[in-house]
Amino acid sequence: MDCKQYIAEKLNIDGFDAGEVAGYIETPPDTTLGDYALPCFFLAKILRSSPVKIAETLKNNFTTDQVITEVNAVGGYLNFKINRAGFAKSLLSEIAEKGAKYGADTLGEGKTICIDYSSINIAKPFHIGHLSTTVIGSALCKILRFLGYKVVGINHLGDYGTQFGKLIVAYKLWSSREQVISGRLKELTRIYVKFHEEAKLNPALEDDARHYFHLIERGDKESNELFGLFKKITLEEVDRIYKMLNVSFDSYAGESFYNDKMAAVVEELKEKNLLTISDGASIVNLDEYGMPPCLILKSDGSSLYATRDIAAAIYRKNTYDFHKCLYVVAYQQNLHFKQFFKVIELMGREWAKDLVHVAYGMVSLESGSMSTREGKVVLLEDVINKTVEKALKVIEEKNPALKDKERTAKAVGTGAVIFGALSNNKIKDIVFSYDRVLSFEGETCPYVQYTVTRCFSVLKKTGKPKDFTVPDMCEAEYAVISELGRFPSVIKSAAEKYEPSFITRYAVDLAQTFSKFYIDCKIACEDENLRNFRLAITDAVKTVLINALTLLGIDYVEEM
Ligand code: ARG
Repeated sequence: MDCKQYIAEKLNIDGFDAGEVAGYIETPPDTTLGDYALPCFFLAKILRSSPVKIAETLKNNFTTDQVITEVNAVGGYLNFKINRAGFAKSLLSEIAEKGAKYGADTLGEGKTICIDYSSINIAKPFHIGHLSTTVIGSALCKILRFLGYKVVGINHLGDYGTQFGKLIVAYKLWSSREQVISGRLKELTRIYVKFHEEAKLNPALEDDARHYFHLIERGDKESNELFGLFKKITLEEVDRIYKMLNVSFDSYAGESFYNDKMAAVVEELKEKNLLTISDGASIVNLDEYGMPPCLILKSDGSSLYATRDIAAAIYRKNTYDFHKCLYVVAYQQNLHFKQFFKVIELMGREWAKDLVHVAYGMVSLESGSMSTREGKVVLLEDVINKTVEKALKVIEEKNPALKDKERTAKAVGTGAVIFGALSNNKIKDIVFSYDRVLSFEGETCPYVQYTVTRCFSVLKKTGKPKDFTVPDMCEAEYAVISELGRFPSVIKSAAEKYEPSFITRYAVDLAQTFSKFYIDCKIACEDENLRNFRLAITDAVKTVLINALTLLGIDYVEEM
């Protein structure tokens, strides 16, 4: 039960969507005036009246009921009092009943959403720069599925381009099958870096690289076999990291998948008079829209990144008939997405409006930035392993007797990395700090996971909640109830704004509210009814925190 939504639906304000109105409803810090308040200022313009008058009118048209027991209009605000006991009772039974499904919805039923995320480049190291797209995309998949959408998670592999020609040249000159098979991605990175060093001295290597790339494109057997090997090794390596992060995909159709689908795009662009030739290259002029041209074909006739994205979008629309197609890609590519979305619109595809670039900021390590060419990379796997190691140390200090320390350290360490990347508004650049993500205090994953273990331990020691009638609640108790009731609408806003960070923030808020309750209210108290009520709160907090973590791809433990 989501009180805000309930109030908004009851208000049923002409011309406004209930979800939107619910978004304006606040929970005042001081609840003497009411449990919920709607500031009516945002309505003034459209309803052409003053906020004070609007609040009065809304109050007069509102009929109270068992849940909302009182409504008052005060200076442009509409204040609501609710039947706290009734609300607490129905909410706690709802959470107990629904369990892992509490917060789920059917609003997305019948709609498909494609999410292009992680989208790594073959034969390049999986570095910390891929963390955000991977965990934001994966969380969005889980969140949208929870809301009933059919989600297609797509890893749009970067498996096309001259760099594969470079790799073949480098392989032939400085490596071997054995070395690649045993050294794996590290070996591929080594020879890629070496290629760039050597090419500075010997530019002819670049011509060789182009030659081999054309061989791949033309289906040459040996080149494609090597390319296949590089691809296989990369995918095996990243799969290990995906498993650590609870990430999976429904499709690995990468850039090369569209090789045979681009001619039709070029043909259509020609037919619709959208292509112009400029310095031998084929482009779509976007002057009118204040953008540089979108490059479709190079002067040698080869396709570009945008060409493959246009073909991919059309393919996805035809194959999945998506309601939305999301691209979780760093904001550095803002222009690229604006350009090719525009081209698709100009091609007359009305669904161009359903393509969404979910942009996010950069992640860097405290030590600074990196570049694959110079070999200065921070591997994501190293970051995860190091965090897990550090978590193990903390556990060994704090709880040496714990069983299964390794598994706990894994959950805590990987959780800290994921949660750390999802903690900020996604567009912000973040600097990753081991100490910060692993801190047990503050807005961190260990803090949330620790709260879950506290709930488990209380329930284990004091027993499972039995039936109760809701007592007169203190503020600390009601604060938890109110927070628990917010979960469904938090998930919906996270989905609407493509912001998994709403859920990390919520998990921290709920954990903090629970801590206050835990300190203020003795759970294992004498009074049996009160004890059962408090146990029911504890059980509900456990369920909701686990649901929140699961939506983010984070594991919980029962003890730590
Ligand atoms: N592989 C690209 C890169 O690393 C990201 C691809 C994003 N997806 C897309 N459809 N363009 O920059």
